[in-house]
Amino acid sequence: MAPRSQAPVALITGSSRGIGKVLALKLAARGVNVAVNYKSNADLAEETLAEVRAAGADGMTVQANIEEPDDIDAMFDAVQQQFGRLDMFVANAAASAFKPISQLKLHHLDRNWAMNVRSFVLGAQRAAEMMSASGGRIVVVTSYGSLAAFPTYASLGAAKAAAEMYVKYMATEFGPRNITVNAVNGGLIDTDSLDFFYNRVPGMAPMSSVISKLPLGRPGTADDMASAIDFLLGPTAGYITGQTLTVDGGLTIIAPPFWADTTGELHDAVYPPAASGADETHVEG
Ligand SMILES: NC(=O)c1ccc[n+]([C@@H]2O[C@H](COP(=O)([O-])OP(=O)(O)OC[C@H]3O[C@@H](n4cnc5c(N)ncnc54)[C@H](OP(=O)(O)O)[C@@H]3O)[C@@H](O)[C@H]2O)c1
Repeated sequence: MAPRSQAPVALITGSSRGIGKVLALKLAARGVNVAVNYKSNADLAEETLAEVRAAGADGMTVQANIEEPDDIDAMFDAVQQQFGRLDMFVANAAASAFKPISQLKLHHLDRNWAMNVRSFVLGAQRAAEMMSASGGRIVVVTSYGSLAAFPTYASLGAAKAAAEMYVKYMATEFGPRNITVNAVNGGLIDTDSLDFFYNRVPGMAPMSSVISKLPLGRPGTADDMASAIDFLLGPTAGYITGQTLTVDGGLTIIAPPFWADTTGELHDAVYPPAASGADETHVEG
């Protein structure tokens, strides 16, 4: 590892908790200094920073509401002042109103764009300016609402699709400066946001109705997502750019009728028998 003062630097928006925090700790473990952005939870951001330091890297916390362009500028200025360099930028923080399209008001549409698309573009502009001649990495975190439609997710899903298209344009424009730009697209990932979506949006379908259909049969973890992002930020991914890497347990490759809804022998052909029904003819001894 390089000495802390010469180590690469990553800025991760929304790394006080969830996927951003797990990613911060993964990067720290391989010697990357991390700027931990948050909006409200200063205490959680300080905890992330303490864990980054315990993992052997350095870092800083930086409060910024990424809906505000002035806050975005101040955030990059603070990283420049503290470390004098930037090697990786991860546009991870997201928020939106979850409502049917018929109920979306002007302020919902404007705030959604500012939070989930504009902040990525403004951040990538600043990040690319700060990256040295040897290049850098940019990753945006998106979700399967960019690919398929489901209740109340129109606003955020459309923003994630826009971000994935920006990834392709940025990859072409920043490529000559050896900066790669990619997206990591998540399915159901077990964080506070997932809990909010299924348990706090009135009338939402039960999470179990979705999980049961997934080929891998479980929600993803923050670690599943952070591992994919870490790969795209890492030394072995230098020739990958303009891509969206999907981390969803198979959610976006299935269609009705679902294997989970089959019965009898057809069902048994795919689903392993329950442990209690194990084949007793093979018991030895
Ligand atoms: N969870 C899922 O099921 C799932 C699935 C697919 C994709 N994703 C994507 O993964 C990314 C991370 O989601 P997550 O589930 O890890 O989130 P999370 O656990 O809810 O954490 C959200 C993070 O974003 C920060 N944040 C929120 N609003 C902000 C703002 N205006 N300015 C700056 N920071 C802000 C929060 O800071 P404070 O702590 O200060 O509030 C926190 O650090 C998002 O892009 C999300 O769309 C999530």
